[in-house]
Amino acid sequence: MTRPLLAFVAMAALSLSTAAYAQSADDGRAVFKQNCSLCHDVAPDKNRIGPSLFGIMGRKTGSVPGFHYSVANKGADITWSAAILDRYLISPREAIPGTTMTFAGLKDEQKRRDLIAYLATLH
Ligand code: HEC
Repeated sequence: MTRPLLAFVAMAALSLSTAAYAQSADDGRAVFKQNCSLCHDVAPDKNRIGPSLFGIMGRKTGSVPGFHYSVANKGADITWSAAILDRYLISPREAIPGTTMTFAGLKDEQKRRDLIAYLATLH
């Protein structure tokens, strides 16, 4: 289960280091509202259809108490970082095959960057 995500990580590190996008956590909050808030809360341990995203940056996959993860997500054994989130959010089901997160992916690079900047403020 970990292999696809790990391959993404290497690619993501490369693409992030060469990118020239500015990012805005404020814009990212709006992206979150539109794309994620249906299923995710940002308050600590407040789980909905998906787990709380409070403290997501630097957190291990599948580690929110009381949330019933899929085996795929729980067992991915990855620590969430900006680079990993970037690849994950393009296509969650390719990054973690077997995930129960039914979200097609956020293809717009600027929106992903803003969203990740916002997620990084949740701690
Ligand atoms: C339709 C509901 C839904 C939407 C929309 C959704 N998610 Fe999820 N998300 C989930 C579910 C369910 C899981 C748990 C997946 C599993 O256990 O396989 C999850 C898991 C995650 C995880 C892994 C958390 C962990 O603790 O390992 C991250 C990160 C995440 N989502 C981010 C996002 C972001 C950012 C968005 C918006 C772009 C989003 N999700 C949109 C339902 C959703």
